[in-house]
Amino acid sequence: MEKFVINGGKKLYGNVTISGAKNAVVAIIPAAILAEGVCIIENIPNINDVTMMLRILKGIGAEVTMINKDTVRIDSSNISTHVVPYELTKHMRASYYLIGALLGRFSKAKVAMPGGCDFGVRPIDLHLKGFEKLGAKVSVGESAMVEADAEQLEGNFIYFDTVSVGATINVMLAAVKASGLTVIENAAKEPHIVDLANFLNSMGADVRGAGTDVIKIRGVDMLHGCNYSIIPDQIEAGTYMVAAAAAGGDVTVCNVIPKHLESIMAKLIECGVQVIEGDDSVRIISTERPKKCNVKTLPHPGFPTDMQPQITTLLAIAEGTSIVSESVWDNRFKYVEQLTRMGANIRVDGKIAIVEGVEKLNAAPVKANDLRAGAAMIIAGLAAHGRTEIESIVFIDRGYENVVEKFQGLGADIERVTVPDKEEEQAV
Ligand code: UD1
Repeated sequence: MEKFVINGGKKLYGNVTISGAKNAVVAIIPAAILAEGVCIIENIPNINDVTMMLRILKGIGAEVTMINKDTVRIDSSNISTHVVPYELTKHMRASYYLIGALLGRFSKAKVAMPGGCDFGVRPIDLHLKGFEKLGAKVSVGESAMVEADAEQLEGNFIYFDTVSVGATINVMLAAVKASGLTVIENAAKEPHIVDLANFLNSMGADVRGAGTDVIKIRGVDMLHGCNYSIIPDQIEAGTYMVAAAAAGGDVTVCNVIPKHLESIMAKLIECGVQVIEGDDSVRIISTERPKKCNVKTLPHPGFPTDMQPQITTLLAIAEGTSIVSESVWDNRFKYVEQLTRMGANIRVDGKIAIVEGVEKLNAAPVKANDLRAGAAMIIAGLAAHGRTEIESIVFIDRGYENVVEKFQGLGADIERVTVPDKEEEQAV
C-alpha cells in the first residue's frame, strides 16, 4: 500500500502543466473501436483509468501500442468479441462506454455493469433507454451483464429527462453508424462531449451541435482511423487552481482552455483570489485568507460537481460561512468527515453543506474516499500546518497524472511513501 505524506503550510509558486482530460480520454479510447483503421491519439494522460481502458481494448482483440509516453496507436480492425467480463470493468465507471461503442460497431454488446467512485446511486437507465430508442433489445442478465442487440440500429429522437454525461456519450457512440438521423434533446454540454464529437467527426462521422443541448447525428456506413489530440483536463486544472488559492502563493496553470474554467475562475474571484487569464493559461495569486462564497454544482456550464470537494476544502478555511449545494449526486459529501478530523467546521444536511470557515486546518491522518475527495485531501494537507498522511491514494492515481511531481514542482513538500505490510494491517 502507498500513501501521500504532506508537510503543509508552504505557499505554492511556479508553473504546472495540465495533462489530457480523463473524462474525454475514457470516452475516446472506446470510440476507437468504431473505426475500421488505425487511430493515433495524442495527449493521453498517464493515469490508471487509461491503463485499465487500454487493457480492456487489448483484451477484446484490439492492437494497442504506446508510441511514446502520451501517444497511443489503436488498431481495432481485428476486435474478436463483443463481450467484456466483470474482471475488466469492475474498477472503472467509464467501462460502460464499451456498450455504446461495441453496439455501434457490431450491433451487439455484452458488457458487465461497471464499478467506479461511490457517491450515491449511479443508475444507467437513461443509457439503456437511449439504446432501446435506437432499436436495440436491452436486458440485464446473469452476473449483471448488460446485453444489447439490434438487427440494424436506426436513428431516432431521444429526450433525456436528466442531463447525463454518460448517457449522452453512450448514445453518441451507438448512433454514429446507425441508419438515418438521431437527435439527442437535453444532451450534456461538458467539454469532453465536444471533444468526443470532434474525434468521431475526424473518423468520418457526422455529429453536429455538441456543446449545445441538442446533438444531431446523421449515421454513416463506415468510420476510418484518424490522428487526434485530447483536450486538457478541466478538473485537473481546477484542482491546481484551488490548491494555489488554499495554500497561498502565485501559480500559473499552463496548457488549459480558459473557457472551460469560467465557473471555477468566477468562484475564486468571488473568494477574493486574483485570477489572471492568459491565452492558454490561468494565473492564480493568493495572498490573503479567502472569503466565503456559495457554490451550487450543476451540469456544464455550471460549477462542476467534480470540483465540489476541492472548493469546499478552500471554503473550510475562508472567512465567513459558505453554503455548498450538490445538485448532481445524492451522496457526495462523505469526505467531509475527513476534513472535520482536520478541524474543519462543516455541517452536512442531505445535499447541502454549511461551511463555517476556520482560520486554519490541522494536519491529521486522513483517507481518500474517492478520486476528487482524494484531491481535496491533498489541498487540505497543503493548506494545513504539520504532517498530513493520506491513505487509499489508489483513487487519486486513477485520475491525476504525476500528482506528487507536479505539486513538488510548485514547491510543495509532498511525497509518495510505501507502507510496509505490517503497518498496512494495523491501518486496516
Ligand atoms: C460523469 C463523470 C463524473 C461526473 C459526472 C457529472 C465520467 C467517467 N464521469 O459521470 O466524474 O461527476 O459526469 O459531471 O466522465 N443519471 C440517471 N440515469 C442515468 C444516468 C445518470 O438518473 O442513466 C443521473 C445520475 O444519477 C446523476 C446525474 O444523472 O444524478 C448525472 O450523471 P451523469 O452525468 O450520467 O454522470 P456520469 O456520466 O456517471
